Amino acid sequence: MNIGIIGCGAISDQYMIGLNKNQEILKVVACADLDSNKSEVFSKKHKIDMLSVEEIFVNNDIDIIVNLTPPSSHFEISMKSLENGKHVFSEKPVSLSIDEGKILYTTMKENNVYLFAAPDTYLGPAFKKGTEFLNSKQIGKIIGGSASFITHGVEGWHPNPEFYYKKGGGPLFDMGPYYLTSLVKLLGPVTQVSSYSEKNFNKRLVDNPEVKYEEIEVEVDTHYVSLLKFKSGVVVDFQVSFDIWKPYDGKLEIYGENSSLKFADPNNYDGEISIFNKETYQWENIYSSKDSENNYYRGLGVVEMVNSIKENNVSEDDLFLPFHVLNIMCTLESYDLDGNWAKISEQF
Ligand SMILES: NC(=O)c1ccc[n+]([C@@H]2O[C@H](COP(=O)([O-])OP(=O)(O)OC[C@H]3O[C@@H](n4cnc5c(N)ncnc54)[C@H](O)[C@@H]3O)[C@@H](O)[C@H]2O)c1
Repeated sequence: MNIGIIGCGAISDQYMIGLNKNQEILKVVACADLDSNKSEVFSKKHKIDMLSVEEIFVNNDIDIIVNLTPPSSHFEISMKSLENGKHVFSEKPVSLSIDEGKILYTTMKENNVYLFAAPDTYLGPAFKKGTEFLNSKQIGKIIGGSASFITHGVEGWHPNPEFYYKKGGGPLFDMGPYYLTSLVKLLGPVTQVSSYSEKNFNKRLVDNPEVKYEEIEVEVDTHYVSLLKFKSGVVVDFQVSFDIWKPYDGKLEIYGENSSLKFADPNNYDGEISIFNKETYQWENIYSSKDSENNYYRGLGVVEMVNSIKENNVSEDDLFLPFHVLNIMCTLESYDLDGNWAKISEQF
């Protein structure tokens, strides 16, 4: 299948590394960007066609649009692609509101095309291995879990950090999808949430000479402490923050009656997995990453999408997953702290 990439920014080269490894089933043929300088550099580097954004939607050679634009453009780009009969793989979040999500989902069904969305790290070796351990019931009946992503933001390293502090960014919409998608894959749907969130810094100072601006006005909450209640009854504590000074250590732990399982960071495709050893009272490593080059796996979701379309076995659960995660995030975002649980609708 032929792929057109829209959005030739920071992550696009990493996608090319992964996609180029799968040329027997897919081929990136064209790219487009609002900023034609970026698409020109990208097209020359990867020897693919450079098209305008309007041209790429109607190009008959393209089957799938890979949407690598910032979150605020995800809805518009995915919608135009679906309306033009293209399948879409979108970066996360799939869209910014439940209303947008409903429109995307309906348009996908009406046009008989598929919309898949990041994250795809759960298709990597570490999550597969962790799922196998969990299903082996070694830790016994699941009684709880804990997931967190805590840093002090992205302005120290990202070449264009502004969108991370605008609607659709923040730690919830930017990093939440990795942790929530993994949790839903392991524990099933979330039915209720409770949450506290805060914007602790109104401005972020950009500490990167490559970035043209020095200050970012923060629009969104950047510190979330939440509880997720799953349909199974299990309750998981979930924290995402861009406000905390602390070494980065993405966490996903599942607690069972007999032991606990520490997954690799869901932000990565591979990593370490540990089980709690009751004799030594320590974590014991049960899986180590074979490949430290994480970007080796970038684009796995696109590969999975191509394979399942070709084999005509696209899973309805997988199609609904990014929308369920969107639903959880929108409910956490709009949560009004009143001590009650907020209900997640099973459909939108
Ligand atoms: N950078 C990372 O490490 C990383 C990792 C994983 C996922 N992502 C996700 O990938 C997406 C892109 O991130 P990035 O870091 O590459 O951002 P970026 O700002 O570096 O690149 C985005 C590109 O999209 C273009 N663009 C913006 N609006 C557009 C529109 N309407 N039509 C066409 N082009 C448009 C911009 O000109 C820019 O070149 C985001 O959703 C982000 O969350 C980024």
